[in-house]
Amino acid sequence: METTSDPLDCRGLTPDLAAVRIKQAVSVGSADAAPLPVLLDEDCAPERVSGALQGTARRVRYVPAARARRTPPNGGPSLEGTGPAPRGGAPWWQRPDLRYTGGRLHLGGTDIDTLASRTGTPAYVLSADRVHENVRRLSAAMAAAGLDHRIYYAVKANRTPGLLAHLRTVGACGVDVCSVGELMHVQANGFPPEETSFTGTSLTGRDISVLARMPEVRVNPDSLASLDALGRACPGREVGLRINPGVGVGYQGDDRLNYSGGPATKFGVYADRFAEARDIAAQWGMRIVRLHCHVGCGYLDAQIPEWERALDGLAAAAECFPDLREVNIGGGLGVPHTASDRPLDLDRWAGAVARRFAGRGLHVAVEPGDYLVKDAGLLVTEVTGVERRRDVLFAGLDAGFNLAMEPAFYGLPCEPVATVPRWGEGEEVYTVAGDINEALDVWMSGHRMPRLRPGDRVALINSGGYAASMRSDHCLRGQAADVLLLERRPVELQ
Ligand SMILES: Cc1ncc(COP(=O)(O)O)c(C=O)c1O
Repeated sequence: METTSDPLDCRGLTPDLAAVRIKQAVSVGSADAAPLPVLLDEDCAPERVSGALQGTARRVRYVPAARARRTPPNGGPSLEGTGPAPRGGAPWWQRPDLRYTGGRLHLGGTDIDTLASRTGTPAYVLSADRVHENVRRLSAAMAAAGLDHRIYYAVKANRTPGLLAHLRTVGACGVDVCSVGELMHVQANGFPPEETSFTGTSLTGRDISVLARMPEVRVNPDSLASLDALGRACPGREVGLRINPGVGVGYQGDDRLNYSGGPATKFGVYADRFAEARDIAAQWGMRIVRLHCHVGCGYLDAQIPEWERALDGLAAAAECFPDLREVNIGGGLGVPHTASDRPLDLDRWAGAVARRFAGRGLHVAVEPGDYLVKDAGLLVTEVTGVERRRDVLFAGLDAGFNLAMEPAFYGLPCEPVATVPRWGEGEEVYTVAGDINEALDVWMSGHRMPRLRPGDRVALINSGGYAASMRSDHCLRGQAADVLLLERRPVELQ
């Protein structure tokens, strides 16, 4: 082990990585139990490192380190007081709870740059209040259209425990899950089986046996095989059926976000097999009381006509199942991702649903993920360097596509915005890139923003959905802090 007079230098490491470094130093050291001095960054909390060390923590003595982290390198100007207002007016994404106040980015009243000084970067920051507001807006539009409805939040978009517990406490909605793992997770965070909709795919025998033991869970098998397996495991059950209307929609018509339509997809039962579905249900004494369809992700107003064709398919299917009490129209409602996107016209959307299903004695369920959480979250990062290569000016961030995969995989951008923009210093056009050794690890190309310097912080907007929940450890760069903003108070989750 390194000697007690020579501290183990863990500066620059996240708490998790510092713990790995310490354990490794202990494992190659002598068996003596001498204290091990450890040097951490001042923003790396010793409790967090000790939490990850367990027994080894007793050996560690933390040596105070002073590192003026927010002093810009190269004698650049201070990050404070960088000018009063952006050129060209307010950014397109600005709204009352996400805006620049005094030249500093605030989400839900919290100064993001100050928060990041405490948590370090990268950090996911999510506003529970914004999620709740999104739930309320959607519910109000459905009620105004005369729909007897219930919202089931699709937790695959963001399963942050504090968020789930909050939504349950305020009674905002039920939840939609797609795996037994998610089912256990929502139950651990307060959602009972009857408030849970389950629509998974490629279910295993083990999945079926768990679902069979929870008759209140609102299961929608997405294949004849799963319907049959569920019937065999719990005959007589009321059940849903996921159908495939053969029409799909996605953000800006992008086929990668379609779940049905065009070529055959793995999701749901097509109309030509409805008779078999009825026979299977009858064989096991089951009643199909609900039809479900989810046809794609991220659609906005321009896709509504196509989405209405999917609704027509669902309405036609409803005629084929005499015991029906409910239709579940899935999720897929999108949020603006660029300055040219407009928010989804919810009244038009709800009107389209009401024209097909209101007043028919049918309950309407909807299970959005992105619409509820995406614009409630930021991924806060730090600029690692700014460098011109040929004719392109690159800004590197300390977070890569492994922390928010949708921009790289689906072309759904998370626009980089400065937390404390240098409005007084002019603008540059950047290619903003991440810290993963993959060519696709680019957040945005040709992106005009106020001049950046190493050490500045950049928030990636629209990171509340399918970012933290899909993160990977690729290149062992999967660490990020998690903060939930709850009624204006930041709660650190990790
Ligand atoms: C069955 C089902 N329901 C709901 C959702 C949520 O979709 P979104 O986040 O686009 O609203 C998904 C997403 O994949 C899904 O597969």
